[in-house]
Amino acid sequence: MQIDVILGLQWGDEGKGKIVDYLADQYDIVARFQGGPNAGHTLKFGGQKYVLHTVPSGIFRPQLINLIGNGVVLDPVVFQRELRSLEKSGVEFHRRLLVSRKAHLILPTHRWLDAASEAHKGHSKIGSTLKGIGPTYMDKTGRNGLRVGDVEQPGFREQYEALKAKHLELLKIYPPVDFDLAGAEADWFQSLDTLRSLTFVDSEYYIHEALASGKRVLAEGAQGAMLDIDFGTYPFVTSSNTITAGVCTGLGVAPQRIGRVIGITKAYCTRVGSGAFPTELDNETGEILRQEGQEFGATTGRARRCGWIDLPQLRYTIQLTGTTELCVTKIDVLNIFASIAAATHYRYDGQTHSALPYDLNRVAVEPVFKTYEGWQCSLDGIHTFDGLPQQVKTYLEDLETYLGVPFRMISTGPEREKLIIRD
Ligand code: GDP
Ligand code: IMO
Ligand code: MG
Repeated sequence: MQIDVILGLQWGDEGKGKIVDYLADQYDIVARFQGGPNAGHTLKFGGQKYVLHTVPSGIFRPQLINLIGNGVVLDPVVFQRELRSLEKSGVEFHRRLLVSRKAHLILPTHRWLDAASEAHKGHSKIGSTLKGIGPTYMDKTGRNGLRVGDVEQPGFREQYEALKAKHLELLKIYPPVDFDLAGAEADWFQSLDTLRSLTFVDSEYYIHEALASGKRVLAEGAQGAMLDIDFGTYPFVTSSNTITAGVCTGLGVAPQRIGRVIGITKAYCTRVGSGAFPTELDNETGEILRQEGQEFGATTGRARRCGWIDLPQLRYTIQLTGTTELCVTKIDVLNIFASIAAATHYRYDGQTHSALPYDLNRVAVEPVFKTYEGWQCSLDGIHTFDGLPQQVKTYLEDLETYLGVPFRMISTGPEREKLIIRD
């Protein structure tokens, strides 16, 4: 069997959680392969809203196995909070939620370092979610990290103390930032009991055997391809590979195992945190998008920056991820506009380009916009592509010609059932 992939093609928050939740009943296993509690994936069904940070978005589908892969960084405190809220909602997860022994642990001092590093950067801060993501991945690549499997090993406490001591030394180079270490440590050690109550696996073997026995596996991306550590708008990125290649390293599967790659884009574009955003609308139109789309972060509550869809950016991330089919979300947010726009090219260095410059953060890029007629009506109750207003079809079909990949799913609202599947 092949492993299918869902990932964000923009700067995150494309609606991955909703789409994974919708598709999950066609799979046996949903697996997260990178990121950590910086993610906030929202699901809506049965009149309820749920936000997941570490737990894969297949958890609400009975029977389905949910796996947290080795590429994920896990904060046991956030994780415990999520599990408690699942318990409250009556979700039975104990035998269905597996954690890779090789996933790295976020320590309280990783969060402290994240905050101190951001404070040190001042105006040039990344705008991180302050969940300790960057420092944890630094310790992973620096070969200092603690892993989930270590909590079962003798000497865990000593390993923890040694890493903490290193962090306390490191903190001296940064400006002082308030942090209740004693309180955070008490919570952290207590939350390890919950972590230990789950099943730990060697996920590379687990996935390999699952695929060999015909199980259907869906990999759930976090963040978006423009936040990829290598190819995103560096340094304003996250610290993991958010593209399809991250599935291979974050779960332990070989490249030839990758099947469908479903790339998700909003019908417009948003970004939270600092860094380049060529099509940003820092004006009334941007504010309308923010209000209509309720563009406030699911993890930090921060207002998201809004703008029109950016086709050079999407062509780039479709290429990087090997997207085989597209899903567009939040098309309903454009319902009220008399006209909408899409950037088809960039102008920089006195020329028109379809490729991104080396450093999007430093080049004054002027997007070349094409405008489309709006549809100005509700899309509620429409269940087929053919049933969509002609203006929606014209918009999407024109985007397809620029992007070279078909839209197979069109999301018309946050609820699970508001999704049009196009044959
Ligand atoms: P994720 O991080 O990619 O899972 O996305 P988030 O959950 O952070 O943000 C997406 C937001 O848009 C959530 O509030 C979703 O409930 C909402 N959403 C998802 N799809 C749609 C859609 O088609 N229309 C509207 N209006 N909202 C949507
Ligand atoms: P989901 O999975 C949107 C952004 C942060 C910041 C940068 C680095 O919900 O789409 P980090 O905490 O990772 O060091 O922050 O990345 N960021 C996200 N933006 N959605 C996310 O996740 C994000 N995860 C991180 O705002 O700009
Ligand atoms: Mg999100």
